[in-house]
Amino acid sequence: MAQATMQRTGAVLPRGLDGVAVAETAVSDVNGTEGFYHYRGIDPTSIARTATFEDAWFLLHFGRLPDSSERAAFADRINAAMAMPPVLRAALPAIAALGPAGSMDVLRTAVSAAGVALGCRPWTEQDAATTEQQMISIAALTPVLTAALYRLARGLPPVEASSDLGFAANYLAMISGETPAPERVRALEVYLVLAADHGFCNSTFAERVIVSSGADVGAALSGAIGALSGPLHGGAIDRVPSMLEAIGDASRVEDWMRGRLDRGERLMGFGHAVYRTLDPRNTLLREVAREIGGERVALAQVVERTGVRLLNERKTDKRREANVELYAGVVLDYAGVPEELFACTFPIARMAGWTANLLEQIANNRIYRPAARYVGPPLR
Ligand code: ACO
Repeated sequence: MAQATMQRTGAVLPRGLDGVAVAETAVSDVNGTEGFYHYRGIDPTSIARTATFEDAWFLLHFGRLPDSSERAAFADRINAAMAMPPVLRAALPAIAALGPAGSMDVLRTAVSAAGVALGCRPWTEQDAATTEQQMISIAALTPVLTAALYRLARGLPPVEASSDLGFAANYLAMISGETPAPERVRALEVYLVLAADHGFCNSTFAERVIVSSGADVGAALSGAIGALSGPLHGGAIDRVPSMLEAIGDASRVEDWMRGRLDRGERLMGFGHAVYRTLDPRNTLLREVAREIGGERVALAQVVERTGVRLLNERKTDKRREANVELYAGVVLDYAGVPEELFACTFPIARMAGWTANLLEQIANNRIYRPAARYVGPPLR
């Protein structure tokens, strides 16, 4: 007993559990020193240009890429799951009225409502197939909810998913009401594949903690969006466009960025908790952005060079580079995603990885119950 107590309270771990392995996973891994990541052994940057998001989702879910009949069946399954339960559709205007369209907080609330509407119950009290289908349904509904909330906030009726379109094209069509051009869909597909998972990141850990108590998958997935929404995690994406907007012109980049750092503020789209070299997602998104071209891309490139130089001049303990968020906005803008929806497009992609992680957690569950070293006043 005494030893157990010692074990529970004795070891002081790095703040934020930095670098501490808290579980085993076969879903995805990030090698921050060498600068690569993979989904179940496959490099996402090598498949992003040709694979659909459904392919990456299948890979994360089942552990391998689909063959052509599996691809079609999985795409049909996802498409069918994009149909909104009527009770959720009825609740959506009230949820849309809670806050600004495109805020991850409103999406988190809608995803939580989706979990309730789908009848999600503690996974310990229902069969595994039901739980798995609920995960697929919530993930498939996330773009539907995002687009519907956006349109409702504009006084427009939601657009239903079409059975003729894939996941990425459907998202764009449900936003604009028009069938998107193939090159726009492809740009979105690259982003979605790259952002589908990323190791044991903050939000993945958070959802695994939630589901480890037996809580339903709606609770875990809405909790994951809550964790992702923080500016130090996925909330940086919509702060990069406003940073580019505020800088305005290449001649102002250096002064603007120096001023921000002098005030102790962070440069959005730079730095990473794990990468100590180039972020491979940033490398591919930069390449896609260059192909798109334009003034915004040219400005972003100056911002990248300057930000990396300034950050590494000031702190030399480890290398800091631009991260996935820097060019994501440019690529999403080209695809036809409105700026207000950049933030919510991240969890749409990440649902694929989150659900694979929930499956893994449930398959070999033990409730997370860590300890903290108590430093308050002793028992009186
Ligand atoms: N701007 C300014 N200073 C920075 C930045 C940055 N972008 N990144 C790191 N630093 C400096 C800070 O001085 C910080 O020290 P402090 O905590 O005393 O202020 C120090 O470096 C921390 O360095 P790291 O150990 O390399 O980074 P950490 O793991 O603490 O944080 C994080 C990583 C949160 C991503 C950070 O780099 C950051 O805030 N970046 C800006 C926000 C952003 O772009 N987030 C998206 C990340 S990608 C994703 O989650 C999908």
